[in-house]
Amino acid sequence: MGHFAVPGDKSISHRAVLLAAVGEGETRIAGFGRSADTESTIAAVRALGVRVYEADPETLRVFGAGLRGLKAPEQPIDCGNAGTLMRLLPGLLAGQAGRFELTGDDSLRSRPMERVAEPLRQMGVSVETADGRAPLVIVGGHVRAISYELPVASAQVKSAVLLAGLYAESGETTVVEPLPTRDHTENMLENAGVGVRRRRGTIKLSPVQQLRLGELEVPGDFSSAAPFLVAATLLAGSELTVHGVNLNPRRIGLLDVLERMGARITVFNRRRIGGEPAGDLDVRPAQLVGTTIGAAEVPLLVDELPLFALLAVHAHGDSVLSGAAELRAKETDRIEAVVDGLRRLGAHIRATPDGFKVRGVPSRLRGGPLDARGDHRIAMLGAVAGLVSREGVELEGAESAAVSFPGFFDLLESLRGATT
Ligand code: S3P
Repeated sequence: MGHFAVPGDKSISHRAVLLAAVGEGETRIAGFGRSADTESTIAAVRALGVRVYEADPETLRVFGAGLRGLKAPEQPIDCGNAGTLMRLLPGLLAGQAGRFELTGDDSLRSRPMERVAEPLRQMGVSVETADGRAPLVIVGGHVRAISYELPVASAQVKSAVLLAGLYAESGETTVVEPLPTRDHTENMLENAGVGVRRRRGTIKLSPVQQLRLGELEVPGDFSSAAPFLVAATLLAGSELTVHGVNLNPRRIGLLDVLERMGARITVFNRRRIGGEPAGDLDVRPAQLVGTTIGAAEVPLLVDELPLFALLAVHAHGDSVLSGAAELRAKETDRIEAVVDGLRRLGAHIRATPDGFKVRGVPSRLRGGPLDARGDHRIAMLGAVAGLVSREGVELEGAESAAVSFPGFFDLLESLRGATT
């Protein structure tokens, strides 16, 4: 029991639809990860005049408008809760003629957007923000190549600059990142034949006249597998195998952390899916010891850090997370949401400006109420905490898990069935 696959990777699914939207002719996307966030991306490219045909729930046929063929809609484009959409799309809009307005839900409209506006302005694009936040108004057309050093380690900002660089009229665009962040944009562009050169923290991209993507395949989302890896590690008697998961080294920092903590996870059937490393994961329960995570490791498991807190709570000894102030700029302030949420369940955890400190007790968490605060990663944390706690968790806002993983609770139920 306990064999399953997770939906297609959300980061890669967003990128596949966005690039296909400006591709030549048809792009077929298999293994597409359907979620509220990626539905926002489909709706956005449709609003821009791109035809998307849903052959089946996981297969899309996107009929690209060509590199400069997106049409400005009269209404603002609603990015919903999707930060990746709101930060990557401006990179493509930089090269389009017209005025484009992007907005989103309350959470997205409270998140920092100057980080993409600023480099795009340097590239000659007009980008207005409302006090640094959405709505964004972009008037594109002409793009200048720049060399840009990222002030924060952010794959979204890196991607926005690289996508705008496709349109540059003056040569190569360079992005320098302070720490390695997920490189799905670079991989997908390179697979499509775009000139991408990478050396340590520097990425150089040559502009193109057209993009031809053909067939794209999306591997399973490691971030969606992560709650199950954590649950199976913490639950006595569990035995779990997850198939076809993306194992891009810049996404699987949680595996290294789990290994340091003493978890029993085996990777097998290593292969490539859609130009990305992938494989199957086998998990058994284990006794854990505390560990420390610092700034350099943070981007490699940025979306899994709430789950790290739960692991640390159940480990022998202390754990510390530092260098993760970015967590305060996610869908919620995730440092506060995690610390406040887990304390109410009986955990010994306290917040620091850029992380948290945990005193681990290797007995089961008590349980209690937890508010997801509309944040999908906190909802999934709460659900796993409920499963491994003595009294269970009354989770408020569980439905927000659908932002990245609509079938999450069904799968969790089946896992519970497999272990009792
Ligand atoms: C993402 C990058 C990360 C991550 C987000 C998805 C992406 O954000 O937290 O969930 O798809 O590029 P930052 O780039 O802001 O760190």
